[in-house]
Amino acid sequence: MGQLDGKVAIVTGAAQGIGRAIAEGLAREGADVVVADLNPPEDGIRADVSSEEDVARMVEETLKRHGRVDILVNNAGLYASLEMRAFTEIPLEEWNTVMEVNVASMFLTCRAVVPVMRDQGGGKIVNISSGTPFRGVPFLLHYVTSKGAIVALTRSLAKELGKDGIHVNCVAPGFTMSEGVKAHPEVVEKLRDASVAARTIQRDQVPEDVVGAVVFLCTPAADFVTGQTMVIDGGQFFH
Ligand SMILES: NC(=O)c1ccc[n+]([C@@H]2O[C@H](COP(=O)([O-])OP(=O)(O)OC[C@H]3O[C@@H](n4cnc5c(N)ncnc54)[C@H](O)[C@@H]3O)[C@@H](O)[C@H]2O)c1
Repeated sequence: MGQLDGKVAIVTGAAQGIGRAIAEGLAREGADVVVADLNPPEDGIRADVSSEEDVARMVEETLKRHGRVDILVNNAGLYASLEMRAFTEIPLEEWNTVMEVNVASMFLTCRAVVPVMRDQGGGKIVNISSGTPFRGVPFLLHYVTSKGAIVALTRSLAKELGKDGIHVNCVAPGFTMSEGVKAHPEVVEKLRDASVAARTIQRDQVPEDVVGAVVFLCTPAADFVTGQTMVIDGGQFFH
């Protein structure tokens, strides 16, 4: 028997990388998982999480298929495709795109899902941030700022939704060898060895390393945990 039998989960950006590993982990615990992505697999849902219309359709389609939503994992985000450069060189348009895809998306998905969870008497939301806002990382100011905003969004939303039995938590991975990262050899070259060297557990971080924390936050074992951020980075940063 799985810990999430009978639960329905939406995982955004779950066609590959960390999102796919999370979707598989939730499914192993018995959840019915909806994979939402810009480029979804055959049985997934195509949705751009920065589009209000797409997000509304994603939730409607989930309800049509499964009748409920118990878990939302906000994982979709822009990272490895972003060029690392001095903040003075970041075009405003790129700054705005990062904020839309990484932060406004979570506002939109939570706004669409929370009424459903309220009607059901509760739910679990997990937002994927990053270790970068805790460490302060140069040359990716839009990204790091967006991931810091996710921690703030998590805490405030947790306070707002506690009375509804809706738990909101955050997981912040370190540099992870996802498909998105591996598709950018220049990023791997720049960050891989330095990240491993900075860790207590000195090996590559892989998408599966993040799964245990996310699954835990979605189970009844975490029913008294909300507003928290778990940094999963092999001991690179300590709170
Ligand atoms: N890889 C890392 O080092 C790392 C570290 C910390 C946090 N993160 C965060 O983890 C999350 C996943 O990262 P990853 O490295 O696995 O990414 P990835 O690039 O391997 O996968 C991202 C997935 O999200 C989808 N996606 C992108 N924009 C979307 C949109 N607008 N709407 C819907 N889907 C969209 C992509 O199609 C892709 O399937 C991101 O939020 C990222 O910021 C990654």
